[in-house]
Amino acid sequence: MSDVVEITGQKAASIPVIDIAPLRSKSRDERLAVARQIGEAAQDMGFFYIANHGVSPDLVASAFRLAKEFFSLPLEEKMRLVPPEAHPGRGYGPMHGQALEPGTPPDLKESFIFTLSLPEGDPRVAAGRFGRLPNLWPDSLPEMRVVMERYQAAMVEVRDLLLTGLALSLGLAEDYFAEYSVEGVEMQRLLHYPPQPPDHEPGEKGCGAHTDFGGITILKQDEVGGLQVLDDDTGNWIDAPPIPETFVVNLGDQIQRWTGGRYRSNVHRVISNAGRDRFSIPFFSNGNPDYLIDSLLTGQDGPARAHFEPLTVEQQLIQRITEVRLTNGAPTP
Ligand code: OGA
Ligand code: NI
Repeated sequence: MSDVVEITGQKAASIPVIDIAPLRSKSRDERLAVARQIGEAAQDMGFFYIANHGVSPDLVASAFRLAKEFFSLPLEEKMRLVPPEAHPGRGYGPMHGQALEPGTPPDLKESFIFTLSLPEGDPRVAAGRFGRLPNLWPDSLPEMRVVMERYQAAMVEVRDLLLTGLALSLGLAEDYFAEYSVEGVEMQRLLHYPPQPPDHEPGEKGCGAHTDFGGITILKQDEVGGLQVLDDDTGNWIDAPPIPETFVVNLGDQIQRWTGGRYRSNVHRVISNAGRDRFSIPFFSNGNPDYLIDSLLTGQDGPARAHFEPLTVEQQLIQRITEVRLTNGAPTP
């Protein structure tokens, strides 16, 4: 791609910044031009930045302010928001509560997570279906729910826009992913990474190396930095530094499975060695639990097809959550 440069024979990959405003254009050619860039990035690193996404900077600033206020609450209050182990995916995840990279110490981070709220009385809520239980909010910070739900709604809009671009990039109808994403178990996460102490355990990280489980992730990071993406070609870790006014987008395991491996769910991690607290807000678009993810691309019979066997969103997510739990013994909030 245009910003991959050859340095002494080695490929120095970088993560492109894609202006997604033309995805809203009436001109199909303009939309296609963005889709092409998305398709290239999806096949290359599986990561790209988006600019001109339309999300208000004030909303982003408010979300970070409230995330900081939340993590500053007394531990006792946060611990009351830890969900029962049988029903994770909501509420507070304490420090060291997740180990994303097998064979390394648990992650030096604490988290809060909430999903899309279904209307009260929805049978899926009553039945305790996967990802459908009510969110857990702190009583002492009522503003948090209001702002976070606005932020989440903004992410759903960006998600929808990106999914049209992704569909176009694959030669599909622009609304191809609408059925997949309707009432998805979208997870909005707030993360706090304290600075790593100098005498930290070997291998400890803010967030161990992992791929994201779902469809697409839309991440806002603060100005501290520390996110790194694996460049498979060289084995090097590439920094994904904060770029003002942008979000980092990466594709998750669902898209890799769906495209038979053509689009990449790339390995990434967070190193917390900047000497200061870092905050980030990832939005995970996971799709509707009942949706069947089947091969999108032709020519995938035989072994490749078996490797990417059709699974519902719910089956696929539970499979990935269980894998992490089994390899690490740590719950995955
Ligand atoms: C994640 C993740 C990166 C970050 O939560 O899956 O990769 O910068 N987060 O916090
Ligand atoms: Ni991730």
